[in-house]
Amino acid sequence: MIINSARFVISNAVVRKCPKDSRHEYAFIGRSNVGKSSLINMLTGNKGLAKTSSTPGKTLLINHFLVNDEWYIVDLPGYGFALRGKSQREALEKMIKGYILNRKEMTNLFVLIDSRHKPMKIDLEFFDWLGENGVPFSIVFTKLDKMGSQAGKRNVEEYCKILLETWEELPPVFLTSSETRRGRDELLDYIEQLNRL
Ligand code: GTP
Ligand code: MG
Repeated sequence: MIINSARFVISNAVVRKCPKDSRHEYAFIGRSNVGKSSLINMLTGNKGLAKTSSTPGKTLLINHFLVNDEWYIVDLPGYGFALRGKSQREALEKMIKGYILNRKEMTNLFVLIDSRHKPMKIDLEFFDWLGENGVPFSIVFTKLDKMGSQAGKRNVEEYCKILLETWEELPPVFLTSSETRRGRDELLDYIEQLNRL
């Protein structure tokens, strides 16, 4: 898919304030700092679109961006970061889960995993929660440029092998880097395919 335009539409904390024009939308989630906002910028070809930061906890709202005047890409806050304490963490979790469970326009959730890490409890529990709630999702491994290409690939294979110890099959898996733009065509083609459904 060719990206002709991408623009910010709205940020908010509740699902009922999200755009009401029933377009397909694709949301990006994962632990804080995993690279969600950077990936959105890489996909849309606009470095300044979603705010990024080397400090975790940058994105704190549900952010809608309209792409090609046709579909939305949604940047969500990360999970698992302590922030300013338990109450803020709980409020964020409520916002994220409320969005995921109630946003009918969300055609697919992309769950980002840092390709350098071994499976972490918080991600595995999140996958389980998605499965229990029948949420359609894919796994996107990020920051592949940070390791040698063989080491990165091996790590991802190992990660998937561990998932397959308890899962019957894997959802679609993507290997990406926002630095090298690896995985861009694959992700955009997948979104284009889902847009047609
Ligand atoms: P929160 O909004 O805080 O949850 O973070 P996020 O998941 O949106 O992460 P963000 O895109 O802000 O990126 C976090 C840090 O990782 C930034 O310093 C990015 O420059 C860096 N980063 C993100 N993606 C990549 C990547 O593919 N390669 C490299 N080398 N760095 C990356
Ligand atoms: Mg972010």
